[in-house]
Amino acid sequence: MDNLIGLVNRIQRACTALGDYGGEGAVQSLWESLPSVVVVGGQSSGKSSVLESIVGRDFLPRGSGIVTRRPLVLQLHKTDDRSEYAEFLHMPKKRFTDFAAVRKEISDETDRITGRTKQISNVPIHLSVYSSNVVNLTLIDLPGLTKIAVDGQSDSIVGDIENMVRSYIEKPNSIILAVSPANQDIATSDAIKIAREVDPQGERTFGVLTKLDLMDKGTNALDVLEGRSYKLQHPWVGVVNRSQQDINKNVDMIAARRRERDYFQQSADYGHLVSRMGSEYLGKLLSKHLEAFIKARIPGIQAMINKQIDELESELNQIGRPLSNDAGAQLYTILELCRKFDHIFKDHLDGVRPGGEK
Ligand code: GDP
Ligand code: NA
Ligand code: MG
Repeated sequence: MDNLIGLVNRIQRACTALGDYGGEGAVQSLWESLPSVVVVGGQSSGKSSVLESIVGRDFLPRGSGIVTRRPLVLQLHKTDDRSEYAEFLHMPKKRFTDFAAVRKEISDETDRITGRTKQISNVPIHLSVYSSNVVNLTLIDLPGLTKIAVDGQSDSIVGDIENMVRSYIEKPNSIILAVSPANQDIATSDAIKIAREVDPQGERTFGVLTKLDLMDKGTNALDVLEGRSYKLQHPWVGVVNRSQQDINKNVDMIAARRRERDYFQQSADYGHLVSRMGSEYLGKLLSKHLEAFIKARIPGIQAMINKQIDELESELNQIGRPLSNDAGAQLYTILELCRKFDHIFKDHLDGVRPGGEK
């Protein structure tokens, strides 16, 4: 199944690389039929921190105020070897092995479009991370929801961010990671509010509660974590990310994870939940869900893929050879991936349907 998610990732990447090529519907609708995990929540609720801990690497700009100002489409690719590196779509020839440089490039690339302002842009940054320590996932980090425009922002920014977030999570193929800080009342959560709008039954929403360590002494988040405050179909996951002080002191990811584990193990309140709390658990939960999500939709996606194969073939015929043409070569790559995809689906269906048609 890992292969299947990996393949979905590769098709998504190929589609992305193709970009706006001719605005072709085939590539666009193929992309939209593939699942991804979208992170939503209020500004500074801990979205970027959660993403980082799922990846297990420090590479995202984080902090107070509006730091994430463009969508970041992050594709994780699990590899077999020990090398670990990142690549940006806008710098295809450069391999980043220094993750501090990745963070700087995200910042710089954000500024290139928005200027060094507090403005936002809809234009996504695409980043791939290759590592043996990740699970195959596509994650999308978004600007945080806010209540008011601050200095240097246009009045429309509150609504603009909300519309951007909604445009990602309203797609039925998106899995919503709704991040709420534990030191605020869940009834005021921006994440839950917008997730409920597009997914009222909570079928594709995962509730993540951050900042458990910052709750007032004598209080705990059991009502939320045990699903009494706001019920979702999936269990809530509590996490403890690094504080701003930790970030300033360069507390690394390994130390942070160990501390998070210790936090839950030693907690008088959450000891009984220890096996399903924390960032590491969250990453595995999402990957498992993604598998189930794809499996459940295999017949539908397969029909889509087959339709795409037909359309891509006719597009390719129109372009004609030679394939030195960049767009043609990319289309061809996608076509090849689709064929492989179709093949794997067929194998899978034969496996689950006894006596299934060959
Ligand atoms: P985003 O704006 O939602 O992406 O939030 P960030 O990930 O940038 O985090 C905002 C601030 O909250 C940063 O200073 C983080 O260090 C801090 N933070 C995030 N999660 C936690 C947590 O679980 N505990 C503590 N103490 N601080 C956190
Ligand atoms: Na922030
Ligand atoms: Mg952020």
